[in-house]
Amino acid sequence: MKDMKDWIGKFFRGSISRREFVERAATGSLGLLSTMAVLEKQSLVAGRSSLVKGRLPVTSDQRPPTKRVRHDPDQTNVNPYEAWLKEEGIPVYRDYHITDLRAAEVKPWKRLGVLGAHIDLVGGEGVNAGYLCEIPPGAATTPQRYLFEEVIYILSGEGESVVWTPGGSKQSVKWQAGAVISPPLNVWRQHVNRGKTPVRFLSMNNAPVVIDLFHNADFVFNNDFAFRDRYNGEPDYFSAGPENFHHKRTTPENSEIARGVHTWDSGFVPDARSIGLAVVKERGEANSRVELQLAENTMQAHISEFDVGTYKKAHRHGPGSHVVMLNGRGYTLMWKDTIKYSESKTQVRVDWQEGSLFVPPDGWFHQHFNAGPEPARYLAPTWGGDGKWFMRALGGGGRTHRLGKTSTRKGGNLIEYEDEDPTIKEIFEAELRKSGVKSRMRSNKGEES
Ligand SMILES: [Fe+2]
Repeated sequence: MKDMKDWIGKFFRGSISRREFVERAATGSLGLLSTMAVLEKQSLVAGRSSLVKGRLPVTSDQRPPTKRVRHDPDQTNVNPYEAWLKEEGIPVYRDYHITDLRAAEVKPWKRLGVLGAHIDLVGGEGVNAGYLCEIPPGAATTPQRYLFEEVIYILSGEGESVVWTPGGSKQSVKWQAGAVISPPLNVWRQHVNRGKTPVRFLSMNNAPVVIDLFHNADFVFNNDFAFRDRYNGEPDYFSAGPENFHHKRTTPENSEIARGVHTWDSGFVPDARSIGLAVVKERGEANSRVELQLAENTMQAHISEFDVGTYKKAHRHGPGSHVVMLNGRGYTLMWKDTIKYSESKTQVRVDWQEGSLFVPPDGWFHQHFNAGPEPARYLAPTWGGDGKWFMRALGGGGRTHRLGKTSTRKGGNLIEYEDEDPTIKEIFEAELRKSGVKSRMRSNKGEES
């Protein structure tokens, strides 16, 4: 009996897990009713103590408390996502951008059993965020599942992701640098390094929205619900073949591009750097793109490429679009409040290369410039675009991702070339002179055809 008292004490102090305690109780001398009483009391205490300190109830194998947890009546403006980041215990990047995701520092990460860093850039604004994960050769992440969507870009190395639902068979997807994979919502996932060099990947996700809304880590990270409307073990779910291309029909009522949208519909893209794109002239004539409809996510993504000696038109939209550069060299200007860049009191310039990441803040104009000798391509998970779903709270109203192809003259959020600040072209031409690249932009008319 003393032995069991010691175990109960350890359980309350958190040095043994709930599962270990239950197994011990079942084989020991503690009766069923006593076991349940201990479990219920521990749940209540664990939940109360963490919330009082402004932390989430963090458990990996507990049932949620069966009784209401009373909050500290003086608790004010605790941000659940911020509290969760603190508990994760790894670096958090918070600037407007990260110059090179491949070189950014990562540290041991207890939850995943490998190395990592969180990314909570200014433009994420509590809507979208990300993390970096590095898996040494021969290692694998601890299996995870959670109630937020994520789009993973493989920055370096080769390996595979294994996914499964409770009671279902495992499915493996092999990948290498340049691939994109989106494990479906709340599906178990484990990432394995199968190469001789470290694997590093970037996850872009909507964890802040979900964690802030429910502020209960047990619900978010230990939830048995299976979203079978999104994934039910289909063997071709992560297929990589050309059958995933789809010319999606659109109408003037549901899209600004009424002639249809070039789309890829799968949970996987074998190589985002070489996937076929289609010309889309609304954002610049030498601009091409493909819309990614990944894993039935509400978040969608697109890949965009713009040619040598050109730049895209400036536009603005709501927060959260994580732009990760897949290749090329250039810069992006971000500013707010005015159409004329030089008149804005808030200007941010991001010089980018392969592996750079930046997030334009809510409602800021931003404009991408190719200053290098090769086409430049990026991947951008976001709430807007022409995906399957539209989340009104995050893509509509004042935070619109719509009207992104409609001129500011018509009340939209796109600055036509002829309306842009002349300073824009002066900066661009000076940059091209430095790199010896010839401009293809005609005066006030866009680029040469
Ligand atoms: Fe944008």
